Amino acid sequence: MKKVTLLDKTFQVSIPEATIQEAIQRMAADMNRDLKGKDVFFIGILNGSFMFAADLFKYIDLKCQITFLKLASYQGTMSTGNVKRLIGINEDIEDKTVIILEDIIDTGNTLDSIIKQLKGYDPAEIKIASMLFKPEAYTKDIKVDYVGIEIPNDFIVGYGLDYDGYGRNLRDIYTLVP
Ligand code: IMP
Ligand code: MG
Repeated sequence: MKKVTLLDKTFQVSIPEATIQEAIQRMAADMNRDLKGKDVFFIGILNGSFMFAADLFKYIDLKCQITFLKLASYQGTMSTGNVKRLIGINEDIEDKTVIILEDIIDTGNTLDSIIKQLKGYDPAEIKIASMLFKPEAYTKDIKVDYVGIEIPNDFIVGYGLDYDGYGRNLRDIYTLVP
């Protein structure tokens, strides 16, 4: 079993590159079928989704655009520790079909916050696509429209996902060895 050490932790391969790529092609095919004829705006959430977004976008065959947004902690007067502000929206998404691209959905808190903020820009509809999904950890009622691979509630790295900033370059996905 392939292993990697990042900082003080060891991880072993749990999802090989080929399985990830198959899941992405299936997601793209589903989107191409479901969203035919629409003007679609893909929004990748940085940093984690950059690799997934790039691979998926190559298989999209729709009238489409892509941009990337980042979540930043509120500065200054806001005291609500966990609330994060979505930064980087310059494009006009009004009346467009928006697809949020996430690397992973865990509790769903991040997703919930992103959707609330994007609704303020009056898109026609918001769809959600996540490369990875942890159903056991999910606490929201929001439907995730496109899921690449469901995984157990373990900590993973690779394919854009990091441990303290490291491991994003790995082509396979690795799970923490306890
Ligand atoms: P949520 O708000 O709990 O759904 O968490 C989503 C964010 O937490 C993701 O966008 C990731 O940045 C991070 N995250 C959740 N699970 C993992 C993991 O297993 N490895 C690395 N990052 C993770
Ligand atoms: Mg993320």
